[in-house]
Amino acid sequence: MNMDILKASVACVRRSFHGSAPKVALVLGSGWSAPLDQGRTLGEMDYDAIPCLGAPGVEGHRGRLFWREIDGREHLVFEGRRHWYEGQGWEPTVFPAFLAADLGCSTLMTTCAAGAIRESLNPGDLVVVEDHINAMGGNPLAGPPCPELGPRFPDQARVYAPDLREILIEETARLGATAYRGVYAAVAGPTYETPAEVRALRTLGADIVGMSMVPEAMLANARGLRVAGLATVANKAGESGGHENVLKAMQRVRPLMQGVLSGFLKRLS
Ligand code: HPA
Repeated sequence: MNMDILKASVACVRRSFHGSAPKVALVLGSGWSAPLDQGRTLGEMDYDAIPCLGAPGVEGHRGRLFWREIDGREHLVFEGRRHWYEGQGWEPTVFPAFLAADLGCSTLMTTCAAGAIRESLNPGDLVVVEDHINAMGGNPLAGPPCPELGPRFPDQARVYAPDLREILIEETARLGATAYRGVYAAVAGPTYETPAEVRALRTLGADIVGMSMVPEAMLANARGLRVAGLATVANKAGESGGHENVLKAMQRVRPLMQGVLSGFLKRLS
C-alpha cells in the first residue's frame, strides 16, 4: 500500500473540509447514490480532486465526496466507489475507510449491489451483511507493517457490528419490508460468476456475491471502526443480465433503500 498517497489524500480532504468532525462515514455503492438526499451539505469535492481516488470508471458511481450534517451529526458521504478491478491498486478501494478513521469517524456504513447466491434471495431483497468471505485473491492490508492500517494481524471475529445489524433489520421491518441476513463473498471482478463459481461460492457458505465492500470493511475493522454493511440483491448470481440490468433492478427498490438508510442514520448514537 502506498501510504504517501493515502496520507496526501487525507491532507487534501482536510484542507477542503476545514474544521470537519464527522462521526459516521457512508459509502454509497452501485445504485445507492440517489437514495441519500437528506441533510445539509457543508462541503463537497469530486473524487478526481483527491489524489488516490480519481474519477470512478463505472456507470452508477457518481464520484463525489460530501461533508454533510444529517440529524445534527456530521457525516462523510462517498457517492460512488472505486473498485479493485479498475486497476488502480488497493488505495482507492480502502481510502473511504482510511479517511473516515483519520477524521475521527466511529462508524462506517457501506452499501452495494450484489448477486444472490442463496436460492431463496431475489432481486430487490435487502441483505444485512453478517460476515464476509474474501475471495478477491488479495488483501489490501498485506505489505510492510504500518500502524495507520491497524495491527499486523487484525482480528476479524466480528467485522460487522451486531447492534448495527439489528438496527438495519428493525428499520427495514418498520417500513413493512424484510431485510435478510447473509454472508457476502467478495470477488475481484470485473467478470460475473460462472455457474461453477456460483456453486462453489454456495458450498463455501456465501449468500450473496459482489466486487466491493470487503476491502473498506477490513481496513475499517482493523482501525477499530464499527462497520455496517447493507446490500441490495440486483440479480441472481450467474444471471446478471449485465450492469445496466443491475442498475435498473436497484432503481426499483430505491424508496426502500432510502427509507432504511435514513432510519438507520437517525438511530446511531
Ligand atoms: N456478481 C458480482 N457482483 C455483482 C453481481 C453479481 O452477480 N451483481 C451485482 N454486483
